[in-house]
Amino acid sequence: MVNIKIDGRDVKAKEGSSILENAKNLKIEIPTLCYHSDLSPFGACRLCTVEVKQNGKWKITTSCTTAVEEGMEVRTDTDTVKNSRKLAAALLNYKYPGDKAIRETAAKLGVKVDASKADARNCVLCGLCVRACQEIVDVNALKFRDRGLNRDLEEASIEFDPAACIGCGSCAYVCPTSYVQMEDKGNKRTIWNKVFKMASCSVCGRHFAPVEQLEYISKKTGVPMSKLLVCVSCR
Ligand code: SF4
Ligand code: FES
Repeated sequence: MVNIKIDGRDVKAKEGSSILENAKNLKIEIPTLCYHSDLSPFGACRLCTVEVKQNGKWKITTSCTTAVEEGMEVRTDTDTVKNSRKLAAALLNYKYPGDKAIRETAAKLGVKVDASKADARNCVLCGLCVRACQEIVDVNALKFRDRGLNRDLEEASIEFDPAACIGCGSCAYVCPTSYVQMEDKGNKRTIWNKVFKMASCSVCGRHFAPVEQLEYISKKTGVPMSKLLVCVSCR
């Protein structure tokens, strides 16, 4: 454990934990967009900034990517912090003016938004879908395109590999802007324009998961397909 101070409160923090995790434990509200507690931090949106004292000077940093250190002092609600978050939100809103999720976050942080813009769903490159696919599902069907040494942020986008995707829907679940759309209709699921055949539960008959997802689980765990063909409610 390390001893830190957040907004003047003494905190015993787990070594390696982030400032954001510890602030959340104290019920301090910090805005986030690209953070998920089950995924590695990414530091893309810069909404979660806080001030940290280093070498006697206060400096702005992203709380999701900054690990605690012994004696660290953190401030979460100064004018500098509020302005930094507002600026990050204003930039996102400028880039994606029609995006409802961004607009709502920006408005909450004091940015003047144009509510008359038509609702749109944008990929804001938060990377949550890519991390969920890699870190939780272990499939790697999604990756960033045009990110590298000479990366052009304007052109970056998410690249989908239909051959690798098993249709689990984790990306749609974590996407904060609903850009990733998933539709279940009858015995079909459509996601990233790929159509999956859904398996039906051997007890109640409900279509409950893509066949490809069950095959993947069966291959990974060694559990035969016949045992996987029962939905959660009937288990
Ligand atoms: S598709 Fe959604 S989750 Fe993936 S990077 Fe874009 S906004 Fe984030
Ligand atoms: S939540 Fe920390 S940078 Fe996005």
